[in-house]
Amino acid sequence: MNSLKDVDVSNKRVLVRVDFNVPTDKKGDIIDDTRIRESLPTLRYLLEQGARVIAVSHLGRPKGKPTEEFRMDKVAVRLSQLLGKPVRKVSECIGPQVTQAIDQMNPGEIIVLENVRFYPGEEANDPEFSKELAGLADIFVNDAFGAAHRAHASISGVAEFLPTYAGFLLAKEVKMLSRVMDVAESPRMAIMGGAKVTDKLALLKNLIKKMDIIILGGGMANTFMGASGLSVGKSLHEEAMFGMARELIESVRGAQKKLLLPVDVVVADHFANDAKHKVVSVNEVPDDWMIVDIGPKTVELYRQAINEARTIFWNGPVGVFEFENFSAGTDEVARAVASSQAVSVVGGGDSLAAIYHLGIQDSITHISTGGGATLEFLEGKALPGLMCCNYNRKMVV
Ligand code: 3PG
Repeated sequence: MNSLKDVDVSNKRVLVRVDFNVPTDKKGDIIDDTRIRESLPTLRYLLEQGARVIAVSHLGRPKGKPTEEFRMDKVAVRLSQLLGKPVRKVSECIGPQVTQAIDQMNPGEIIVLENVRFYPGEEANDPEFSKELAGLADIFVNDAFGAAHRAHASISGVAEFLPTYAGFLLAKEVKMLSRVMDVAESPRMAIMGGAKVTDKLALLKNLIKKMDIIILGGGMANTFMGASGLSVGKSLHEEAMFGMARELIESVRGAQKKLLLPVDVVVADHFANDAKHKVVSVNEVPDDWMIVDIGPKTVELYRQAINEARTIFWNGPVGVFEFENFSAGTDEVARAVASSQAVSVVGGGDSLAAIYHLGIQDSITHISTGGGATLEFLEGKALPGLMCCNYNRKMVV
């Protein structure tokens, strides 16, 4: 990929696409600033080199219209605190107000533009809008790995009009995720959980090709158990995916790999933290109860397997993690991943929440800032935000 280090940025106007799409509460206050923190190496480098930095991002899904709750003001304030220097926020992305603000900048200064999704041209990848954005700068740096799967104006559109380079976060994500998929030490393990089964089956198919051991939990495990003929009662599962799940089970068998499914589960009589619950074997799930977590024997089985792995990719909780009473399985998986000797890569909001909640983030080799982007990258899809930086999978690996 074109690296930021390959270009002289001093005194240049550099448009940097960052992914400042951070979770916020009802008041619009930032709940987790990981994505802002992770953009600092690129921004600091550019500022130290004497670039005039124009940062642009989306926040939420305002659907092409200015929306108060999605303004970038609080993000700019947090960025300023983290950088330890003033960050000017302008309330547009294009137009005279923006060009004037840029003209007033000195080398080593930074401004943050308004939410780029306030403009319909962003998601439409409108060439006119891209051209206007590109007109603000001399160089484009893409550091928004989390949004690299979107073919939007500020991600791939501007690259048609400006020399384009990958930022350090983008490059780090590609390096670490490629490492897991293509150059990892065996045994290689993928742990897949969460509720969105259909969305993740394509990824699972690709992971089965690359990994030695697959561990399933959550709605994904329920679907595979149902496909194997077990009754899963009222548990979250996707019957329409049974055929594909059976094919995947067969492909694992044929390839002499291991697919681990729960042997016991926690079942609840309804979907609530205070629901009546008990541990049962997977053969004994009552018809009108639902699986809400993996059971203690499964925890032990998974823990041992995790302990033997040398490379681990984890995406998605293995139970209804948001309910405290049913978070034990996910917490135990998180602890096992953190204490293993493996190169560990974790992606996806809920798995990350478990890791941060337990305070074990420093024991994970790489925490990916991408949600959908990470999954699509691992599926082997071509991401627009990488292609515009001249990404070539074989070269990077
Ligand atoms: C994300 O949070 O996954 C990225 O910022 C992309 O956001 P989007 O799903 O709204 O495009």
